[in-house]
Amino acid sequence: MNVVVLTGAGISAESGVPTFRDADGLWEGHRVEDVATPEAYDVRPSMVQKFYDDRRAALAGVEPNPAHTALARLEEILGDNLLLVTQNIDDLHERGGSRHVLHMHGQLLSALCRGCNGRSPWEQGLSDFPPCPRCGVPELRPDVVWFGEVPYEMDRIQQALMRTDLFVSIGTSGAVYPAAGFVQMAKACGARTLELNLVPSEGTAFFDEARHGPAGELVPVWVDEMMTRSAL
Ligand code: APR
Repeated sequence: MNVVVLTGAGISAESGVPTFRDADGLWEGHRVEDVATPEAYDVRPSMVQKFYDDRRAALAGVEPNPAHTALARLEEILGDNLLLVTQNIDDLHERGGSRHVLHMHGQLLSALCRGCNGRSPWEQGLSDFPPCPRCGVPELRPDVVWFGEVPYEMDRIQQALMRTDLFVSIGTSGAVYPAAGFVQMAKACGARTLELNLVPSEGTAFFDEARHGPAGELVPVWVDEMMTRSAL
């Protein structure tokens, strides 16, 4: 069985990573849409770097939760038949044991050079505009996909959606495209579709089945069901 899992900020919420659109949805008075854009970076690079430096530093204080570790168990039984796509820029899937994670919106622990376009593993802050380890130019920006930019590996994701048997969306509001459109793409190609989210997402009507509650509870139960089925 081929499975594509899409995760969003909700899967990391119980680990203590704030989501984007719950609560007041603001960061120091700014809407996330006003910080996470190339235009914001051009106008106020220090503010944007600080936004992501704070998030990168906060990773040290959070741990994966049972939803992350359950998906790592699923990978153990499905192997290459599972494509785990995340919109999250944290590293909690990896720390939860998943070995293959497609970060379509980039990663906090990576820096992108505006000089040479190279991507480098990065753990420190970028606010002091350090030189790129590849080309030496001090043009490193967070390696995250901002509004108006094209997510990573869309071809690979689309191919997987076209041949998957099951598409599962976990902890995402369904507010941001192209990820919000994956359910319709998978469904149009014949997949069964399942939503696991705290509350109905904006796209909940597109899913064949929707279960609502905390990911830390729903995901392990669903993975256990998948494991039982694969053992039959
Ligand atoms: N368990 C499951 N779902 C949860 C939990 C939880 N414990 N807590 C919150 N949620 C749900 C919320 O109800 C909401 O529907 O997770 C969703 C989070 O939605 P968003 O904050 O919009 O995050 P996401 O969908 O990942 O955002 C998509 O938008 O700002 C951009 O690039 C950013 O990747 C991000 C993208």
